[in-house]
Amino acid sequence: MKTAMQAVRNSRFGPAGDVLEYGEVPLPRPPGKGEVLVRQRATSVNPIDCRRRGGYGRALLRLRGIGGFPQILGCDVSGEITAVGPGVSELQVGDAVFGAKSPSVRGTYAQYCLVKAAEVIRKPPELSFAEAAALPYAFLSAWAALTDAGFRAESAAGRRIFLQGGSGGTGVVTLQVCKALGAHVAVTAGPQGVDLCRRLGADEVFDYRTEDFSRHLDQFDFAICLADQSEEAKMISILRPGPGTGYATIVHPLMSLVDTKGLLRGGSEAARTFLRNRRAQKRRHRAYAWSLFRPDRAALELLAELTEKGTVQAVIDRTYPLSATAEAHEYSESGRAKGKIVIEID
Ligand SMILES: NC(=O)c1ccc[n+]([C@@H]2O[C@H](COP(=O)([O-])OP(=O)(O)OC[C@H]3O[C@@H](n4cnc5c(N)ncnc54)[C@H](OP(=O)(O)O)[C@@H]3O)[C@@H](O)[C@H]2O)c1
Repeated sequence: MKTAMQAVRNSRFGPAGDVLEYGEVPLPRPPGKGEVLVRQRATSVNPIDCRRRGGYGRALLRLRGIGGFPQILGCDVSGEITAVGPGVSELQVGDAVFGAKSPSVRGTYAQYCLVKAAEVIRKPPELSFAEAAALPYAFLSAWAALTDAGFRAESAAGRRIFLQGGSGGTGVVTLQVCKALGAHVAVTAGPQGVDLCRRLGADEVFDYRTEDFSRHLDQFDFAICLADQSEEAKMISILRPGPGTGYATIVHPLMSLVDTKGLLRGGSEAARTFLRNRRAQKRRHRAYAWSLFRPDRAALELLAELTEKGTVQAVIDRTYPLSATAEAHEYSESGRAKGKIVIEID
């Protein structure tokens, strides 16, 4: 019986080439209640993986019991189920599935990973394993922000949405989903990403290095920060007064404040900033949120449906084999990728 698998793990924090080791590790334990074991065929690099490898979030992750070494990074799941735990009825051995798991010590840079059955759904046959690995974590993170800002899929038609960072991993999929739902979408992107965003259907695209979007946009319903929180005031300035409008960001200082100043000082500084900003928006009847990735089965189903129809496509910049994950991290950190960096797993 097989007891080992290939995986990429790190036993300390540091640069990708120094700390990411490809080799044999023990197989995960058999799935427990509500869990499935997935034979991974692909995963992807998300910036959180590179940042966690450098130590980002260590204080809060340790508190949640998901710090410590050795760790296997990676959040995107794409593969076939090889075992199901007690209580799992909707998925079976042999199902091709995709989804994302929250950051953990036993992540997805491995031939096998354990996930909660609720975190994966059947993969549409139209999507390859590589394409399926490029979508879920990035999309669900941005979707959490959209939802926290007050956006709802059922009333999306005609709403005006601004996405900062339209050509990044989170932007490329979210922009397509919002367009597919009938929203008007404006984005910012770097000079290399402008054409890509236009091709993906954005109604208005601004090169953030040379143009100030806030001089051109007004009366937006939602502004979502996917890249740089220092532009928060500008993003809020393009919103119409609420109710039914909002700003949310997935780039916020909570983790880094706790890392640098400790749980008490860093946590209370983050809380003070957040509450002050939220109060200011509440006075205009707008939502204000600092959002985090969260599993969302309904959103994953929506994503699958739109990819089946062909209205949403994975945008893959490069693929690497699992053994070259360190190079994939270095490429991600170079900031040159447009769309996603995928890791294929034999
Ligand atoms: N809170 C959470 O749970 C959560 C979850 C997922 C991601 N995140 C964070 O969200 C951010 C985006 O993730 P991602 O996967 O999309 O990253 P990514 O693939 O690295 O993309 C970032 C994109 O932002 C663009 N950009 C940088 N500064 C910009 C600006 N001022 N205006 C407009 N665009 C700008 C970059 O373009 P250029 O390369 O041309 O500069 C790049 O295309 C990362 O910081 C990540 O850590 C947070």
